Amino acid sequence: MKLQTEDTIENIKRLRSELENHFRSILKIDPRLTRKIVSFQNNKDKAFYRWYKYKEAFSSTLVEYFISKYNIPKGVIFDPFAGIGTTLFASSLLGYDAEGIELLPIGHEIIESRVFAQFNIMQEDLSIIEEWRNERPWNLNKEPMDINCLRITRGAYPDDTAYKIGQYLSELKTVEDKQVSKLLFFALICILESVSFTRKDGQYLRWDHRSERGNGKNSFDKGKIHQFDVAVCRKLYQIIKDINSPLDDSLFQDRPLRRGTISLYKGSCLEVLPSIKSNKYKAIITSPPYCNRYDYTRTYALEHALMGISESQLAALRQAMLSCTVENKPKDMEYISEAYYETNRMFEKQELINAIHKFFEEQKEKKKLNNNGIPRMVKGYFQEMTAVIAECFRVLEDDGYVFMVNDNVRYAGISIPVDLILSQIAEDMGFEIINILVLPQKKGNSSQQMGGFGRESLRKCVYVWRKS
Ligand SMILES: C[S@@+](CC[C@H](N)C(=O)[O-])C[C@H]1O[C@@H](n2cnc3c(N)ncnc32)[C@H](O)[C@@H]1O
Repeated sequence: MKLQTEDTIENIKRLRSELENHFRSILKIDPRLTRKIVSFQNNKDKAFYRWYKYKEAFSSTLVEYFISKYNIPKGVIFDPFAGIGTTLFASSLLGYDAEGIELLPIGHEIIESRVFAQFNIMQEDLSIIEEWRNERPWNLNKEPMDINCLRITRGAYPDDTAYKIGQYLSELKTVEDKQVSKLLFFALICILESVSFTRKDGQYLRWDHRSERGNGKNSFDKGKIHQFDVAVCRKLYQIIKDINSPLDDSLFQDRPLRRGTISLYKGSCLEVLPSIKSNKYKAIITSPPYCNRYDYTRTYALEHALMGISESQLAALRQAMLSCTVENKPKDMEYISEAYYETNRMFEKQELINAIHKFFEEQKEKKKLNNNGIPRMVKGYFQEMTAVIAECFRVLEDDGYVFMVNDNVRYAGISIPVDLILSQIAEDMGFEIINILVLPQKKGNSSQQMGGFGRESLRKCVYVWRKS
């Protein structure tokens, strides 16, 4: 007699292969989509983009590539997971108005500082930034401010650096112009990791062995821990240089004279989307968090702490994020918006998700999952993405495109074809699935997965859907 789990696995395999057959002709490897272009890497030397390394970002080249390849007509381009605003800035420079939604304050800080620095700064503002770089006035300030810490950031800096950060913050209070003060604060945000004992590492912050927390417990060495004055002056120099220099390369030789406007909604897209009017956008270029357990609220804890976020605010942000960590509890979608009543019904009918969920629940019962939050996270991810996709459909103009970057994932030996599942949901909503463009290099597995189940590559893709 077959075991229950074997039945469940067979069911998953059958449903997966049906989905694969359904989308076979649409899955295409696109050699233009290199890992560099689909990640932040391609931005790391570009003016303005290089100020803050947001690992989860994609490159401006990717945005330009899709706008040009699919001939997007002039109008408004939208990103419901705006991050540091790559879609917004790249679209704006091509003459498109751009709107985005972002939940995390770090994203808001970066987008707002950049809008000021790139489009609105005056010569007298720049002079203050130059003065700070040349004179280092924080060193004259004898009374450092206390720096806000979170439980997970306590002890993150060498003592002298923590002292200097306090002096810098204290000196910032003397800057009258709010925008200039914000830009100087932003420069500080940009260097926190480099002057700290920590390194961002997807799911959490890693601590160097030289820190109190890391001492004796691990051998992790993050390399050079930068001196505060050197790091902040370099950052200020880079900011001044980029503001003063003309813009970099572009796929578009002739940039339009008119720059598009940039608007940002702060909050969860699950809450904001239902308030946006229908048929508004020409295209959506986006990348949601992947279903990979990465916890942005931990990764960006140094920055959020300095921005004054409290322990409870951080927990609330984590819960408001699209469910992508094992700590996310289920969201009451119909309470968030009655628009989600329909999408919930639609989600409940997705057979492959149901089968995968059943498998994870069985594994959980047998204590075979390395974290019991996995079934809840995966289910929540797809339930919430169903709502996002429905809202994207509604806010797009007819013939409007969605370009969505995402990774497939694997848990407990079961690989989840996120690309096929989301495309199936999109098709059920009325989207035409134009392509699922696959990156030539496949993504490896986490060491945990490799150890237990052997190697299996996971697709990284950009989905191209059209509202038809
Ligand atoms: C993969 S990143 C997108 C990065 C972006 N493409 C860029 O280039 O900067 C996903 C973003 O979604 C944000 N996010 C997560 N949950 C969200 C939610 N419920 N509403 C809005 N944004 C959310 C995260 O904070 C993160 O910045």
